[in-house]
Amino acid sequence: MTQTQPTQDELKALVAAAALAEVVTGELVGVGTGSTVDRFIDALAGIRHKVAGAVSSSERSTARLRGHGIRVFEANEITALPVYIDGADEIDGGGCMIKGGGAALTREKIVADLAARFVCIADESKRVQTLGAYPLPVEVVAMASAQIIRRFAAMGGTATLRPGLLTDNGHPILDVRGLSIQDPLAMETEINQWPGVVTVGLFARHRASLCLLGTARGVQRLVF
Ligand code: 5RP
Repeated sequence: MTQTQPTQDELKALVAAAALAEVVTGELVGVGTGSTVDRFIDALAGIRHKVAGAVSSSERSTARLRGHGIRVFEANEITALPVYIDGADEIDGGGCMIKGGGAALTREKIVADLAARFVCIADESKRVQTLGAYPLPVEVVAMASAQIIRRFAAMGGTATLRPGLLTDNGHPILDVRGLSIQDPLAMETEINQWPGVVTVGLFARHRASLCLLGTARGVQRLVF
């Protein structure tokens, strides 16, 4: 008998459901952004009476949470979160990630910073040996974009403005191709120093402590 392989959407739904076990009863949960997180929010709706509410990383997730009757708190209203749940564009063997494909990287890093644990939910296509095949998103202040593009060129990367996009914070995003990211923490630290960089989509300082990876064989738990 031939077995059909799960689709990427099915794997996203699988890890989204598995992430419910990471939510702490009676507490707030930090919620990321993206198509995998959309599935998580839909699953969270089923246990909404068990959580105090959510802190959201985007207007998109806020609208979806509220649509399900889940109370959304501002980041400034709270001091700490037990867990933050979000997807990734790439994740390496140390839990470092590229994020920002959905343009929410700045608020994602802010909410992740409030959380004791970052649980990444992703299908297996996101698991890589070395970060950088996915273009690195960088949110920038518009007047600094040309200088930042030159800095990336000096590093061997080609940065282009994402057309027609401003983030929830009103800034453009550069997507940087051609980087081979051997030391994510060092690169994040370096890019963070450049004037005009709002947020680099490297999550090394805020790496995942757990990844629930959706595979054809089920959910794999990668603990970092
Ligand atoms: C949004 C993100 C997302 O987590 C990332 O793009 C993955 O999205 P998806 O779950 O749709 O594959 O960083 O800014």
